[in-house]
Amino acid sequence: MNQTLDVMELKQRFAEAGQAQVFRFWEELSKEERARLLDRARQIDLVEVDRLVKAHVNQTVKEQNSFEGLEPAPYIPFPQHGGDAAEWARARQAGEEALSAGRVAAFTVAGGQGTRLGYDGPKGTYPVTPVTKKPLFQVFAEKIARSAERAGAPIHWFIMTSEINHAATVEAFEEAGYFGLKEEEVHFFPQGLVPAVDSEGKILLSDKDLIAMTPDGHGGSLRALVRSGATAKMTELGVDCISYFQVDNPLVQCLDPLFIGFHLLGNSELSSKMVPKAYPSEKVGHFCLRNGQHEVIEYSDLPVEKQEETLEDGSLRFVAGSVAIHVFSRSFVERLGGGDGELPFHRADKKIPFVNADGEVEKPETPNGIKFEMFVFDALPMAKNPVIIEGDRTQDFSPVKNAEGIDSPQSCAEDQIRMFTGWLSDAGVELDRDESGLPGITFEISPAFACDRADFLTRWAKLDEKPDIVEGTVIGG
Ligand code: UD1
Repeated sequence: MNQTLDVMELKQRFAEAGQAQVFRFWEELSKEERARLLDRARQIDLVEVDRLVKAHVNQTVKEQNSFEGLEPAPYIPFPQHGGDAAEWARARQAGEEALSAGRVAAFTVAGGQGTRLGYDGPKGTYPVTPVTKKPLFQVFAEKIARSAERAGAPIHWFIMTSEINHAATVEAFEEAGYFGLKEEEVHFFPQGLVPAVDSEGKILLSDKDLIAMTPDGHGGSLRALVRSGATAKMTELGVDCISYFQVDNPLVQCLDPLFIGFHLLGNSELSSKMVPKAYPSEKVGHFCLRNGQHEVIEYSDLPVEKQEETLEDGSLRFVAGSVAIHVFSRSFVERLGGGDGELPFHRADKKIPFVNADGEVEKPETPNGIKFEMFVFDALPMAKNPVIIEGDRTQDFSPVKNAEGIDSPQSCAEDQIRMFTGWLSDAGVELDRDESGLPGITFEISPAFACDRADFLTRWAKLDEKPDIVEGTVIGG
């Protein structure tokens, strides 16, 4: 909304939109408090709020999702699973050339709140490696630096934060000397915020002078990339491919030449990596074709029968799980993020502290409010030539989401050790392993030494003195 709107006009607009309650405590507020409220109010797109309320709050009949004729989306399989080895080799070369030409940037979405993990700071500062406990941001920074070293060209890193963690994120990088990266090659920008509403569609106040706002989802990254000037910066740098990954996944190959190559050879606007689901009800999105269009359908939306459906050989029909690893073409982000083709919003019911009519702050025990989020994979149906390639879970995916159990710090540390043990085995160094593939010792391979399996094999072969792998070994310092 226009920054210069005067107070009267602003209040009037909110009143006309049925949101006059936002200024309910105006008369009681100090000068500073009024300024804070106005500042927030001016950021709100009332037309968008009205649209969201009409579509997601007032609508009493839930639109029925039709899954008739739903097909699994095709993907490019690994050569060992029937793919064309020559095509995979061409893709690697194309990706390596693009990296060397400086055409690729890394992009991390790190605006989430990490509530499930129960960690207070920005999630990227959470320690994850088995021995040295490097934080997620350091793991990515070292992988990016190593990829740049291999490519012989700088690789810029764009990081989306949110208002909640922006300052703390930048501070963490400053304190850590940008984890060895050049400050001018790391770019932060906050994502957009959307007001939360109550069950009547009224914007909630979390204090008398504070509108309850929540981040607009990782799908908000497309418009934030454009609005923040990040895509303009990319144009200036000659970057036309954006390698997208989530902050919670330290296994991810941040800049996988194979994946980037397939994206470019396919002339794709949006490419995705799939991994075969570990079990039918795994909580991941599913790559599908609906009416011939590519789409990711969340586990929560796909009927259980579909999640469990099998082929004649007993394998899962909807096997392709989304691990939130993508390559975007910059022009596609510019088109969508610039407003040409909007991502839909999804509704989430949450417990949102609010000020009641008496001006008291209430902390609800049950969901009282509605927040709205966009999902980045909803861009898939709008992309030209989408490409999906097979990925290997053990080399690309082990997120830290929960404090314990599945997708926890412990399961992630174990997956890292399994991956490193596999790399060593491929290099001819066998460690005794239990049934789950764990060697019974805790060790790690620094991402600064090798950012993926192929890199490790090359560098290990060149090591004059190979270290013994014992409890606490860190290969590559
Ligand atoms: C997500 C995907 C799921 C995928 C899984 C893989 C959704 C709805 N689902 O699940 O299909 O299989 O990851 O791990 O996304 N983020 C922001 N801003 C926001 C919200 C989130 O930057 O407003 C970032 C987070 O920092 C994080 C990522 O997006 O990096 C994922 O967010 P999260 O809400 O944890 O996704 P999941 O539900 O785990």
